[in-house]
Amino acid sequence: MASNRTLTMIKPDAVKNNHIGPILAMINEAGFVIKAMKYTQLTKKQAELFYEVHKERPFYGELVDFMTSGPIVAAILEKDNAVEDFRKLIGATNPADAEEGTIRKKFATSLGENAVHGSDSNDNAKIEGDFHFSMCERF
Ligand code: RTP
Ligand code: MG
Repeated sequence: MASNRTLTMIKPDAVKNNHIGPILAMINEAGFVIKAMKYTQLTKKQAELFYEVHKERPFYGELVDFMTSGPIVAAILEKDNAVEDFRKLIGATNPADAEEGTIRKKFATSLGENAVHGSDSNDNAKIEGDFHFSMCERF
């Protein structure tokens, strides 16, 4: 069954470049509703845990350093078919491969610094939503 929620993070590069507003506008215009949101900065331990699935990959250390380098915006988004539709809206991991009109095409600067995160499965959307938000922080 298609889940109706996904988890996003506006990453430190996009926050630094003042792209929070335009990215949230694109998210709203695409029909996603914000169910939870916070402006925060990940600790090293939190970033290591969040990206634990990539632990053995060569870019893991670089990814953790980048994700802790400044504040992020984390949000739970709701829409029919949220996980798949949000991955379409953000575009390919490498902005060089991202389609026109996607968030990464517009705002990402490189494969490593690619502006936004989107959950890659319904199971991970639930895990990642629970990682960032308690039940009292969802509306
Ligand atoms: P995300 O999890 O952030 O939504 O990105 P994704 O699914 O499109 O890509 P994933 O394979 O999950 O990789 C997570 C993040 O790691 C960084 N990365 N760097 N230097 C590299 O080769 C490399 N490959 C991936 C990117 O920031 C990517 O979004
Ligand atoms: Mg991923």
